[in-house]
Amino acid sequence: MGKFQVVTHPLIQHKLTILRQTSTGTKEFRELVNEIAMLLGYEISRELPLEDVEIETPITRTVQKTLSGKKLAIVPILRAGIGMVDGILSLVPAAKVGHIGMYRDEETLQPVEYLVKLPEDIDQRQIFVVDPMLATGGSAILAIDSLKKRGAGAANIKFVCLVAAPEGVKALQEAHPDIDVYTAALDEKLNEHGYIVPGLGDAGDRLFGTK
Ligand code: PRP
Ligand code: URA
Repeated sequence: MGKFQVVTHPLIQHKLTILRQTSTGTKEFRELVNEIAMLLGYEISRELPLEDVEIETPITRTVQKTLSGKKLAIVPILRAGIGMVDGILSLVPAAKVGHIGMYRDEETLQPVEYLVKLPEDIDQRQIFVVDPMLATGGSAILAIDSLKKRGAGAANIKFVCLVAAPEGVKALQEAHPDIDVYTAALDEKLNEHGYIVPGLGDAGDRLFGTK
């Protein structure tokens, strides 16, 4: 079974409280999503493997640590996932970025995939799939299906979100028990429209100012 972790750093909790508030406007919302994504990325990247490298300082030769292992790819689920990319890129600027476009049909709540554009060597990379919201889990499940179909190894996939509903976590773990899931908050439930309660509303609309 993959890992499930709620990352409860005080800075993350504080910023998430501001993010949730109706009074927080688009500019601040965007900044906070990136800041929280960066803090989540910092926690998650704790597990990246290191190897020894011999270097020369102005004083002497020495053996120190450097990142080893697979190169990274960040894969946002459009639209709202885009808001998390820059925050994580600020930690790992050389990461490649793939995009999976998906929207939820408002009647059926089923995700509809409309774009998949990934680095050619996605099967060789450690992948952070990012989306602020894990609600029913449909979008995350379909995005990960799409990645696995293209050769991404389950052991290399981490799903990273800001707010998760218990229903979405359960569905995602049932569909993809082999991936790791990280969230900044595990909320109470979904409402009858498939929105997370207490949640933060429609992440895409708040991020891009479309409603
Ligand atoms: C939101 C969110 C997730 C999805 C989560 O996207 O960004 O992708 O809903 O819901 P689920 O877990 O029930 O699938 P939305 O469909 O609103 O598209 P948008 O980001 O383009 O606004
Ligand atoms: N998508 C959102 O943007 N917000 C929710 O609460 C659920 C799905």
